[in-house]
Amino acid sequence: MQSLLPAEAYIDEEWFVREQNLVMRPLWQFVAPRSLLSEHNAFVRRSICGVDVVVQNFNGELQALDNVCLHRQNPLQQKPQGLRPLVCGYHGWSYLPNGAVDNIPLDSDAYRLPEQDRKSLRLRGYAVATIGGLVFVNIADQPMSIEEQFSLPALDMLRSASEQFDDEVLIATFEGHFNWKLAYENLRDSLHPRFVHSKTLYQQVKFQPQMDEESIDEAKIYRATGSAGRMEHLARLRTFSGGGLNEPLQRMPDYPWHANVERFGNDDWYLNWLVFPNLHIASGSGGYSFIVEHHQPVSAGRTDLTVYYVTARKKRRYATSAAVLLSHLEGAQKVLREDIDIMEKVQSSLRPLASRATLGDYEFANAAIERWYMDVMDGRHAL
Ligand code: FES
Ligand SMILES: [Fe+2]
Repeated sequence: MQSLLPAEAYIDEEWFVREQNLVMRPLWQFVAPRSLLSEHNAFVRRSICGVDVVVQNFNGELQALDNVCLHRQNPLQQKPQGLRPLVCGYHGWSYLPNGAVDNIPLDSDAYRLPEQDRKSLRLRGYAVATIGGLVFVNIADQPMSIEEQFSLPALDMLRSASEQFDDEVLIATFEGHFNWKLAYENLRDSLHPRFVHSKTLYQQVKFQPQMDEESIDEAKIYRATGSAGRMEHLARLRTFSGGGLNEPLQRMPDYPWHANVERFGNDDWYLNWLVFPNLHIASGSGGYSFIVEHHQPVSAGRTDLTVYYVTARKKRRYATSAAVLLSHLEGAQKVLREDIDIMEKVQSSLRPLASRATLGDYEFANAAIERWYMDVMDGRHAL
């Protein structure tokens, strides 16, 4: 079957802006593992649909606020993550958890702001939700509840896996020259690993196309008919996220440090969680370690990846834990580079009016997402 998405969906900047407004803004967006925000004054700064957002811990409470100072628009927090009060570095304005201005140094000497003006100053706030060890933000004016976006079983699985994450996190960033949708499509393509990862991941996990006839037929019917209304459209969205056991591991890796952590589950399987639209969590070690891969759309042709490497929760501190994370990163990075490389090649072949992709039955998950996505983009269903 032919793809419902024209090449413009991947390369056109106007399309990208419309997509950010219609598809991404209404959805909950992952921002960071909870462990980065566990202390008072810990913060992460992320760009969400082009909005500079800071999530800051104020005495244990997480608040998401605009990260732009109300005085001269200087970014309040300037690093991607860290530990620092919410104070502007330009002239020292500081802020309260509700976004109101706390202190303006030399206020009565230099600014003489009328009381009314000062009281009305407030950083815009956004909805925050913590699911186990994962923090999400929603920047919509009227955010949907997180249970509308993710099914209860999917939330339970995400919660139980991410609660098992250790607090020590290694973060790496990659710049990808491809459209972000290629990433979720690639992650739902179980046939590519035998070709793209033949010398790496596929040695360890024999991914198979999932030819479940019932699901294939169901996806085809949905693709032809769409949803009857908004409730059904949201119910469909919830089917795009989930995961758990994926394929058995050929050889269970066995490292001495495994004895130092509390393994998640007990299965010698590759574990895989797909969180629509742009988050992927996997464990190639049967629950001893995880990668949390976040694809952040920057423009039609660019996607930045922030990848978090963690082990399962430590039973005790051990001297080599940083080295364990580093070697975890090195191993996982090879596979990630293979994916980035193939997605960049696909992106480079796309031209306006280029012929559309051809989908096989095994791509039924992507076939359903395409319909859902085009229904939003064409205005048949708003979120
Ligand atoms: S710009 Fe922030 S205090 Fe002046
Ligand atoms: Fe891959």
